[in-house]
Amino acid sequence: MRKALLKMTPYEVIEEVKRSGLRGRGGAGFPTGVKWGFCRNSPGTVKYMICNADEGDPGAFMDRSILEADPHSVIEGMIIAAYAIGASEGYVYVRAEYPLAVKRLRLALTQAEESGFLGKRVLGTDFNFRVHITEGAGAFVCGEETALMASIEGKRGMPRPRPPFPAESGLWGKPTNINNVKSLASVPVIMNRGADWYSSIGTERSKGTAVFALTGKIANSGLIEVAMGATLRHIIYDIGGGVPGGKEFKAVQIGGPSGGCLPASMLDVPVDYDSLTAAGAIMGSGGMVVVDEDTCMVDMARYFLDFAQLESCGKCAPCRLGTKRMREILARITEGRGVEGDVELLSELAEGVKDTSLCGLGQTCPNPVLTTIRYFRDEYDEHIRNRRCPAGVCKALVSYYIDPEKCMACLICMRMCPTQAIEGGKNIIHFINQEICDQCGTCLSVCPPNFNAVRVISGEPVPLPPPAEERVLVRARGRS
Ligand SMILES: Cc1cc2nc3c(=O)[nH]c(=O)nc-3n(C[C@H](O)[C@H](O)[C@H](O)COP(=O)(O)O)c2cc1C
Repeated sequence: MRKALLKMTPYEVIEEVKRSGLRGRGGAGFPTGVKWGFCRNSPGTVKYMICNADEGDPGAFMDRSILEADPHSVIEGMIIAAYAIGASEGYVYVRAEYPLAVKRLRLALTQAEESGFLGKRVLGTDFNFRVHITEGAGAFVCGEETALMASIEGKRGMPRPRPPFPAESGLWGKPTNINNVKSLASVPVIMNRGADWYSSIGTERSKGTAVFALTGKIANSGLIEVAMGATLRHIIYDIGGGVPGGKEFKAVQIGGPSGGCLPASMLDVPVDYDSLTAAGAIMGSGGMVVVDEDTCMVDMARYFLDFAQLESCGKCAPCRLGTKRMREILARITEGRGVEGDVELLSELAEGVKDTSLCGLGQTCPNPVLTTIRYFRDEYDEHIRNRRCPAGVCKALVSYYIDPEKCMACLICMRMCPTQAIEGGKNIIHFINQEICDQCGTCLSVCPPNFNAVRVISGEPVPLPPPAEERVLVRARGRS
């Protein structure tokens, strides 16, 4: 901050950020310096600087971690950005669901004011800058920049068409620059160490590091930071320690509800903006969920679409209605009512929603559906043609069965079954009454691993239980 404010002109700061190659970490990957330049060059004396700390992607907590652990890095980035674009007022739009982040941010703002880094004549220069905090309205769409500004203005958080872009007409109609938490936290280090140092990390077109919240079926879950260009294999196996429990890796979902599911054949894809986009996913703001063989990809697509459908603000028809129709098709496929032609219809609708939605929510939410169709089409076909869920997940297509050869009559599943569908007793091997079973899977999860007696059956008839006289456990099975 000292270097930028005391030794550099705003244009030099913008040039340095441009040369660093920093691209926005909020999802779209737009070059940060270029965006600052647009705002600087917009006519007007009143301009605003906004930090987008809404972080609504399920499973993502990178921005929260930065705000809780080092809020000053974000404030410093905002001060440098505000100096560069010519803003004297700034806002941090932060998720209200992050109370600790909000608390520490408030404390850090007070400290920065007391130290003369915020307020009038920052560091004795002519530059004035104040920062306000706005707590988010609890909607995913409020992370979209035009909806976010509407929310700060006290209106309902809904997007509007662009252009005009915020750099021309943003908050209260004034030129505004919006950056993600990670983008801003990268700025002080770029100023300090220089654009050449920063651009030496990463790939030709994606500079610096990428931060991900690595979760799901992975041995080491948590926040990771890698140089751009690291492969998915390196992240999942060398850092994440692979899939636990001897299970097979199936896919990785990158970029949350706007991103895509990539299969094992894509593990050598480098993590950078362009390679991920080419693969059908997006860098997004950093959610990375690993799934194993026990995950149904059709069900996963339905899950993400459910989220998008619930979070759709309803302003534009393609997103409001298109996601609803897509959701209906996915529901009938997972419920065993899919028909030939459903996948084609789903793809057509998905492309339509992508092309015609008003904002990034609708434009990207079909990605999980499209990538699962692209890479896991056979799973869709199995659901529709053979009424079979290969992963054994979709309730309507699976039955649970207790293998009489393996059951140890331990009573655990009987006691835990919420619908009391399991019959048997002490020393009487158990069986599931299929009429009563609601496929909740509790029996499978509680059956001791050394017995491993519960099987998931899909697409084939469930064997009948043995006759009553053969159900008495004659113990030569290692138990009295
Ligand atoms: C539905 C939706 C939600 C978004 N949520 C966030 C978010 O939580 N945080 C964020 O920084 N950007 C989010 N964005 C992207 C912002 O609109 C904007 O592109 C970003 O804040 C710009 O900052 P950057 O250039 O530093 O990436 C979202 C976009 C959409 C369409």
